[in-house]
Amino acid sequence: MPEDKLKKILNIAKRRGFFWQSSLIYGGLSGFYDYAHLGMSLKRRWEGLWRRYFLGLDDNFHEIQTSYIMPEQVFRASGHLESFIDPVIKCKKCLNVERADQLLEEKTGYSFEGASLERLLEMIKKYNITCPKCGGKLEEIGVINMMFPVDVGVGKPVRAYLTPETAQGAYVNFKYEFEALRRRLPLGLAIIGRAFRNEISPRNVLMRMREFTQAELQIFFDPDDIDKHPDFDKVKGYKLRLLPAKARKSGEITVVSCDYVVKKLGLPRFYVYYMAKIQQFYLDVVKIKPERFRFRELVGDEKAFYNKYHWDIELYLDCMKGFKEVAGIHYRTDHDLSGHQKISEESMTVDVNGKKFIPHVVELSFGVDRNIFALFDIAYDEEEERSVLRFPRIISPLDAGVFPLVSRDGLPEKARSVYNMLKEHGFDVFYDESGSIGRRYRRIDEIGIPAGITIDYDTLKKDDVTLRDRDTMNQIRVKISDLPQILKRFLEGEKLDSLGKPIK
Ligand code: GAP
Repeated sequence: MPEDKLKKILNIAKRRGFFWQSSLIYGGLSGFYDYAHLGMSLKRRWEGLWRRYFLGLDDNFHEIQTSYIMPEQVFRASGHLESFIDPVIKCKKCLNVERADQLLEEKTGYSFEGASLERLLEMIKKYNITCPKCGGKLEEIGVINMMFPVDVGVGKPVRAYLTPETAQGAYVNFKYEFEALRRRLPLGLAIIGRAFRNEISPRNVLMRMREFTQAELQIFFDPDDIDKHPDFDKVKGYKLRLLPAKARKSGEITVVSCDYVVKKLGLPRFYVYYMAKIQQFYLDVVKIKPERFRFRELVGDEKAFYNKYHWDIELYLDCMKGFKEVAGIHYRTDHDLSGHQKISEESMTVDVNGKKFIPHVVELSFGVDRNIFALFDIAYDEEEERSVLRFPRIISPLDAGVFPLVSRDGLPEKARSVYNMLKEHGFDVFYDESGSIGRRYRRIDEIGIPAGITIDYDTLKKDDVTLRDRDTMNQIRVKISDLPQILKRFLEGEKLDSLGKPIK
């Protein structure tokens, strides 16, 4: 079923206009995808929710937009030039290069994240893993840097790189924003933007791409405040779902309060507060079932080279047959600002009420495309007569479809007027009068539109319409004058039968 499910999702994505491989008329380019009209709408909504939620956590959190091409010094300072590397293994026979840790994980089911080159080679031999392309012997192991170099200018071009993460845009601008925002900490700088990585083995559609979107929030704070947050008391009893490193073998998730995580697991309050906020985003806003969600601890060399604490956020995806990383919460200390201070020779020290220090950073980092893919995986469902994408109502590509029951007798004109009225109220709606009403419902079910609004002969007499729920297929009758308000409440999550009398 999982592979079958993936095929079905990809089929809908292409046929209905969500996403497909880029430059497809030329055969496509591996690791690159384009979002089509519905996919773009879904992505924009996810980003909008993310923006509203995370920027809303503090009045000193702000969004910025920064360049995708940055000079080499930026990445010398951040450590990416030296450390943003992946282990690769080469086939002696056909010269094919594979990412060593991923190949091992695929063949054995165990994670080899952060393992040394010696260990990877040893394991490849132990498990008798051969070249997936030609079956030849894999033996030459090494590393490659994943950044895309770019030469800027002509004559004596400047060596630069496409940004491998949005984060550096926030660090190189921190100093100026701190001044412009009147020297207040914590200060949050969010960027929703592109990241570029020359992945050796891009795969699993939107899960491992070479160009992708990240939504990242860098929170700069006084390191002496790492163990406090003014709102910690509000989350201290809130229970987090954790997979600590030592529980990895059993896979058993520990469900413990934030207070317990601070006192027994030794994580600082500032960090744990944001873990709680991330979990609440997934469970309460994106409506992910708790059993599909967990934080996974990374330790030792598994952690990104800039992190002191590193927990990934993982969701259980049927297509991938397991939990997969969709985001991360990282304590990057002053790694980046100190690096930039050293290379740029610009001071990153701040003066807050006479106290001088280099701020530390907690980073909330989300892969937007992975989250979009997760939405498909979790939302896809099949019933006898239909396939349906049960996206959360607030993150569906459109709010409602508006349909005249038949395309004659004045019904299309009336339906158009309802459609225009809903548009004027700010809803994302679409109009469709082609085919039977049953087929039109199937169509909106398949693309995950939560509401269907039908204009029939009674509408002409009573000025009311039917409102149909994608998930239950139940319908209620609603006065046109009440429709904007009822539709809003429905999209916010109210049950259809609490909004009106069900039609038998
Ligand atoms: N600024 C920190 C950072 O970039 P990361 O773990 O390398 O950390 C953050 O990436 C998130 O970006 C990941 O949790 C994942 O959701 C997403 N991501 C990373 N590599 C990706 C890829 N090749 N394709 C799609 N998404 C990716």
